[in-house]
Amino acid sequence: MKVRRGIQDITAYAPPIEQRVEQEYLLLDFNESTLPPDRHVAAALKGFIDAGRLRMYPAYRRFLERLARYTATQAGQILLANGSDQAIEVVMRAVLDRGDEVVIPQPAFAIFAHVADVEGARVIAPRYRPDMSFPFEEVLAAVTPRTRLIVVISPNNPTGTTAAPEQVRTLLERFPDVAVLVDEAYYEFTGKTVAAWIGRYPNLVVTRTFSKAFALAGLRLGYALGDAAFIGELHKIRGPYDVNMLAVCAAEASLEHPEAWRAYVREVMTRAKPMVERFLTEHGVAFFQGEANFMLVRPADVDAAYEHLRRNGILVRPQRGVVADMFRLSVGTVADMQRFMDVYARFLSAQPAPPRRAAAP
Ligand SMILES: Cc1ncc(COP(=O)(O)O)c(C=O)c1O
Repeated sequence: MKVRRGIQDITAYAPPIEQRVEQEYLLLDFNESTLPPDRHVAAALKGFIDAGRLRMYPAYRRFLERLARYTATQAGQILLANGSDQAIEVVMRAVLDRGDEVVIPQPAFAIFAHVADVEGARVIAPRYRPDMSFPFEEVLAAVTPRTRLIVVISPNNPTGTTAAPEQVRTLLERFPDVAVLVDEAYYEFTGKTVAAWIGRYPNLVVTRTFSKAFALAGLRLGYALGDAAFIGELHKIRGPYDVNMLAVCAAEASLEHPEAWRAYVREVMTRAKPMVERFLTEHGVAFFQGEANFMLVRPADVDAAYEHLRRNGILVRPQRGVVADMFRLSVGTVADMQRFMDVYARFLSAQPAPPRRAAAP
């Protein structure tokens, strides 16, 4: 079967997910929540099924109103999507023609470059700085008359670092004809957002997800926030029923009962993550802390560290490219990270004394 020009040359976007068996491993490799959603979510899902509502096609209005309150936007400024992956894809398909340029600072979450390749757009890739900070000046310099989209992932995966709101504002104002997509998948962990500017800047789009803090990655629900006219255009691309009602039902219950996921976020950010940072610092292991529920760790021997963790029941995510000597560590509860530290301490004590490196800022 003949496929569209360019598609054959692209490799599939296939995260290394199939070998994970959650009963066997502590999963610190995909920045998921390590706890399941709380009982209100399970009760809502059961109620939905028991009421016989699975037979009906999805209707989103009530949830859109609820999500508009959570995001301090209006229902018409929201596009629901089958994961924020789909929200990102729909936005990119809406703005990119073959041969257009898209600025994606690297390293970055892989879906962006993948969709650009599928659309036949050209990726311009300024590099994150050696301290992992957002390469603002390089992004400004990368914009040309062919640029249709600037991607700002904040906090970025895998660096964990954010772009300053003032930097985003400069991009929005200096390039009013270029879409600026701000990926806030980890918003709940940082509390930082530029969503308040939706409506003020027609070229701003924010994407978010229920996969991370809300622990609903398996149900696939994300969304894009943007100018109502732009969101109307996106509806022409997304299928009318792409988001399933179990996802909507679970997300609605999560927003109505935020106690458990908010407590999880607090535990991760104020107790578990600082505890791991202290541990790594004390053991002379370099790391980049970032601002989200994960961090980049640079052991003396990344392959040996990964293998030791895996053999002892913990999965982390080895990196590629300029950060290939690091692994990304998702941070879970205090108990999870205690387990990580116990296993990692055994690895460190078995290693020949590594050269001591200062923790990165
Ligand atoms: C920065 C970033 N954006 C988007 C996503 C996609 O999340 P989902 O498609 O599950 O909503 C991820 C997932 O890891 C991510 O790290």
